[in-house]
Amino acid sequence: MAEKAFVMIKPNAVKRGLIGEIIKRYEQKGLKVVAMKMIKMKKAQAEELYKVHQGKDFYQPLIEFILSGPVVVMIIEGPRVIEAVRSINGETDPLKAQAGSIRGEFGISVRKNIVHASDSIQSAEQEWKIFFEENEIFEYLCGFENEL
Ligand code: PPS
Repeated sequence: MAEKAFVMIKPNAVKRGLIGEIIKRYEQKGLKVVAMKMIKMKKAQAEELYKVHQGKDFYQPLIEFILSGPVVVMIIEGPRVIEAVRSINGETDPLKAQAGSIRGEFGISVRKNIVHASDSIQSAEQEWKIFFEENEIFEYLCGFENEL
């Protein structure tokens, strides 16, 4: 089965009208969106997603920010998808992110860094299970698969 990454478009990026621009970058690289929805996250979901950061000084403001507006959550599939998505996103701190990456081009704040993506296959599964049921994930062939 193909590797899955969990990706979230953060509230500031939704408000800035960047949803299409961001999804386009994953798709044009040859990755496949297999699940997607816009949600207003529940506090418990935000706390579960960011539990590794509990107790850090940025934790509370981060939770408040994530709850401040709608987000788009997605599951993306593809070869070495965790690495692929992280390279498209750029480093956590947008000021250190490579020019041309999503954060490098559109971000300025570490907290409001446009997108979230899981950092391993294991965390991806834990994360997407917070937001998706199995029957919300689709299997289909898309164009680029004929090129592999
Ligand atoms: S770290 O430094 O290893 O904990 O960083 P990382 O795991 O890549 O992501 C940290 C997430 O917390 C958000 N955040 C901040 N990180 C560092 N410093 C400050 N001040 C801060 N404020 C918020 C940051 O946006 C990362 O969120 P995600 O959604 O994982 O990208």
